[in-house]
Amino acid sequence: MGRLDDKVVLITGAASGIGEGTARQVIEQGGKVVIADLQADKGVALASELGSHATAIKCDVTLEEDIAAAVDHAVAHFGRLDGMVNNAGIVGAVGKVAETDVAAFDFTMNILARAVFLGMKHAARVMQPQKSGSIVSLSSTAGVIGGLGPHAYTMAKHGVVGLTKSVASELAADRIRVNAVAPGNTVSAMTSAVIAGDPEATEAAAESIASGSLLGIAGMPIDIALAITYLLSEEARYISGHTLVVDGGQTTNGMAGGFNTAEPDLIRENGQTGMAD
Ligand SMILES: NC(=O)c1ccc[n+]([C@@H]2O[C@H](COP(=O)([O-])OP(=O)(O)OC[C@H]3O[C@@H](n4cnc5c(N)ncnc54)[C@H](O)[C@@H]3O)[C@@H](O)[C@H]2O)c1
Repeated sequence: MGRLDDKVVLITGAASGIGEGTARQVIEQGGKVVIADLQADKGVALASELGSHATAIKCDVTLEEDIAAAVDHAVAHFGRLDGMVNNAGIVGAVGKVAETDVAAFDFTMNILARAVFLGMKHAARVMQPQKSGSIVSLSSTAGVIGGLGPHAYTMAKHGVVGLTKSVASELAADRIRVNAVAPGNTVSAMTSAVIAGDPEATEAAAESIASGSLLGIAGMPIDIALAITYLLSEEARYISGHTLVVDGGQTTNGMAGGFNTAEPDLIRENGQTGMAD
């Protein structure tokens, strides 16, 4: 018996990092997974590795039609949608508040906040008639205290916590639970790009994260994936509107980050910088 036997879970940003780790856990725990990512080739490669209980679709979460199509793909391919994980993310606009470019700020908010709303909207469309479902969105330790992440990132991730409570209170009547997970530093392409200047330099990122961690260990995608899949499962049937912090104790003493004194820039998927063409 798996924790997610036969449950169909759609994960945005599932081609890499925490989303990929969650996709692997969904399969491991008996579920079926839709991998929806901007990096379509990586998503297809992961789906083919995971087998017939996985499928991939190209999805840019800044486009409502792409999120709607990913939800429709889940229903067309697997017949239903039990879990929605709003996970796609970037570091986004970094730098001092007075110097932050508004286009970079808007781009960041579109991915980290607006797309989470769109994911909830389209998941609800399918889950409400079913009278069941679980939605989990990625916040961050930067979503519960200030000074850890860049300004736009911090605003968006706090927004995820608020939207989670708001939508949870509405959708409870339809037996749909809505929660968030707030990871601390976790080894992924995003953190490797920031820490080591290379999205694939995961070992260097792990060393650096472990050395700055209260517990002396680096958070790995599986640590976050286990929290996400718990919230997706029936074991969490009485939990809704909650943000589960998974940070090795990081927020107990509020370690500050340097994003807000850095040179202004926009950090996107896979460590690329600047606005996309
Ligand atoms: N790694 C951490 O330390 C950490 C900490 C707190 C929160 N988070 C959050 O966890 C989530 C996953 O981050 P990660 O660390 O695994 O990063 P990652 O870079 O490994 O993965 C992010 C994925 O999102 C995808 N993505 C980016 N823009 C997209 C778009 N417009 N449309 C669709 N997909 C898009 C990327 O292609 C990538 O596959 C993010 O929301 C991030 O903010 C991460």
